[in-house]
Amino acid sequence: SDKIGIGLLGLGTVGSGIIHILEHHKKELMAKTGAADVDIRRVLVRDLEKQRDGHVNRDLYTTRAEEVLEDPNIDLVVEVMGGVEEARQYIEKALKNRKHIVTANKDLMALHGDELLALADRQNCELLYEASVAGGIPILRSLTEGLASDRITKMIGIVNGTTNYMLTKMTQEELSYDEALQQAQELGFAESDPTADVEGLDAARKMVILARLGFYASVQLDEVHLKGMTAVTAEDIAFGQQLGYTLKLIGLAERNEEGVEVSVEPVFIPDSHPLASVHDEYNAVYVYGEAVGETMFYGPGAGSLPTATAVVSDVVSVIRQIRLGTAKAEVNLSADEETVLKKDE
Ligand code: NAP
Ligand code: HSE
Repeated sequence: SDKIGIGLLGLGTVGSGIIHILEHHKKELMAKTGAADVDIRRVLVRDLEKQRDGHVNRDLYTTRAEEVLEDPNIDLVVEVMGGVEEARQYIEKALKNRKHIVTANKDLMALHGDELLALADRQNCELLYEASVAGGIPILRSLTEGLASDRITKMIGIVNGTTNYMLTKMTQEELSYDEALQQAQELGFAESDPTADVEGLDAARKMVILARLGFYASVQLDEVHLKGMTAVTAEDIAFGQQLGYTLKLIGLAERNEEGVEVSVEPVFIPDSHPLASVHDEYNAVYVYGEAVGETMFYGPGAGSLPTATAVVSDVVSVIRQIRLGTAKAEVNLSADEETVLKKDE
């Protein structure tokens, strides 16, 4: 049928944004997918009793992952539950059951992206993860498609919305660190455990993903030189301001003769620099290419709808592939591929 069955893993900040976009942009989605209708067929949650916004039929909720991963009517699994181990197992299972995957999970993609992408490839399935870096900014697609012809040498980014929001509020409204963090959590920008945000690990994960795609290189998380913003005080920020500098958590990925270097750390940047005026949960990524020169991508880096935009755009992309027949999962595997899969199990 023309209906594409979707299984949703998670219905929190991002999941509810996905439901909103699927409902409110139905016409656009139909037009862009060649009239394919999408149907949410199962939704994995932790708490069946929780009150949730949006219009998902409660009968679709389940706490049993198999009901999503093994449902033959589900073509595409959208993972927006977060965490690493369970999410990895679920995505592997879904891929082995020939389901396409869209995920917003940078923790998972930074740690296990290589092996999951290889598995997806062997299964002839799509695994897309645009929402994992810089929320609503289509930066991954820009690196892999828009700038595919160039040799990228450097990327500088504000890629964590929570810390940028905190630094903005501490600078402009003199909020304390704790007050600013609490607001970022209430607005749905922070991770469920915000340690990864404030310690810079979330930004490091995103820089690893950018470096892999931008430089076409193998970069591991433990190679990132990392310093978060837990030690930043209101006094540090005020001192910088007096001298005409703004404090930002900056990710840098650079390709030089020794290889690739990636770092994340708080940096004072001159107020006149464009990155100094990236406020609140907004993100920005500077990309330098040998041929194109300097480009800058800017937009909301966290939050329900901006992030969901990236997820649903990936969904559109998968549906187009399915319709073109280029990502049809029901391929007949060769004997060799079956052997590889059995070894994985
Ligand atoms: P969230 O609000 O905490 O929502 C997580 C959802 O997943 C909840 O519905 C939760 O169920 C469900 N869930 C979590 N663990 C589960 C488990 N073990 N079994 C079943 N259900 C489980 O998180 P979020 O902010 O939407 O983030 C989701 C993912 O998107 C994360 O990977 C995050 O890093 C990424 N992301 C988030 C943003 C953002 O701005 N928030 C931006 C980009 C990427 P209950 O509702 O029943 O608790
Ligand atoms: N916690 C993340 C952030 C969510 O604040 O940037 C978006 O990836």
